[in-house]
Amino acid sequence: MLRTLRDLEVAGRRVLVRVDYNVPLQGERILDDARLRESLPTLEYLLTHQAKIILLSHLGRPAGKVVPELRLDPIARRLAELLGRPVTKLNDCIGPEVSRVLSQMRPGDIVLLENVRFYPQEEANDEGFARELARLADCYVNDAFGAAHRAHASTYGVAKFLPAAAGLLLEREVTMLSRATENPARPFIAIVGGAKLSDKIGVLKDLLGKVEAFLIGGAVAFTVIKARGGRVGSSLVDEKMLDEARQFLQRVPETELILPVDAHVGRGGERALVPADAIPDGWQAWDIGPQTIRLFQEQVRRAKTIVWAGPLGKFEEPPYDAGTRAVAQAIAASEAFAIIGGGDTAAALHQAGLAHAKNIYCSTGGGAALEFIGGRRLLPIEILKKS
Ligand code: 3PG
Repeated sequence: MLRTLRDLEVAGRRVLVRVDYNVPLQGERILDDARLRESLPTLEYLLTHQAKIILLSHLGRPAGKVVPELRLDPIARRLAELLGRPVTKLNDCIGPEVSRVLSQMRPGDIVLLENVRFYPQEEANDEGFARELARLADCYVNDAFGAAHRAHASTYGVAKFLPAAAGLLLEREVTMLSRATENPARPFIAIVGGAKLSDKIGVLKDLLGKVEAFLIGGAVAFTVIKARGGRVGSSLVDEKMLDEARQFLQRVPETELILPVDAHVGRGGERALVPADAIPDGWQAWDIGPQTIRLFQEQVRRAKTIVWAGPLGKFEEPPYDAGTRAVAQAIAASEAFAIIGGGDTAAALHQAGLAHAKNIYCSTGGGAALEFIGGRRLLPIEILKKS
């Protein structure tokens, strides 16, 4: 059981809230503000309970240096719009100026600190830095599920030095994702796609022996098909992962592995439908074909629990969204409870108009969701458990 926001005394107190506002940006434009919106229930709870809210997040991977493009100003502006109240953005996350502003806060005030990854001590989980963060507030709330697989100073270290609890988003994520880890309704299947096998190999291995079937699509499938000796033409292949793919193939029972049998391929402006393991040279796979869609739909129809990470084709470029869309529709029409991990898959679901289907849960986590579903212990969550 997690200690949650409701276990903390927050009225009139300074509450340091670690959020994951690591959102896709184009210049100053936020391309997807879902992570901001999903943090609102916690912020509204804190506002209702007269807390002083100090928000802390990372953005991108600045590698311990100040990177002006990764400052959080556009995020503060969007958050203020969403909340309909001012959000004070500071240009640092520790130091005398930050302390001065925080000491003058009143209940209901919201301050957003600067990108915590501008300090190398953050990712190093430096104890001195964690203590400095702890000195900013009276208690700590972790609502950054998306970063729960990173045991950093602001997600983990700081929780040792303050009364700490999970925010409402983190709590909800753990409840929903636990449906895949604690006695999942069966059959339980994993649908895995996306561009890079390196991002997915962890969850594939973690779920071996736990799911009834792996349905593999996207470019990931062509790395696996190549590792099996198939011809993939010029399709995107994670070359460095071929050995890993072979090891996975040795371990996964043949009956549990459902790979594409046909693929829509392209070369310049030309298109064709070909067997997925016999793609001619110069042609690149862009989507799963109709036979594969039927195979996947059959599995989805039978399933009771589904985990899906990674689009099955180049969904952002119709008509290569057809495979992803058809499988999303099959899930929405099924009796299964489905968990979607990662921004791309959630975006594909939005595009298909299915993000709010009642049996589908879109996690705000990518890597964190996969590690959680794979059954790994995530330290930032572990430290919030009641002893
Ligand atoms: C994410 O988007 O997966 C999280 O915010 C973590 O980001 P990271 O992979 O840069 O640690």
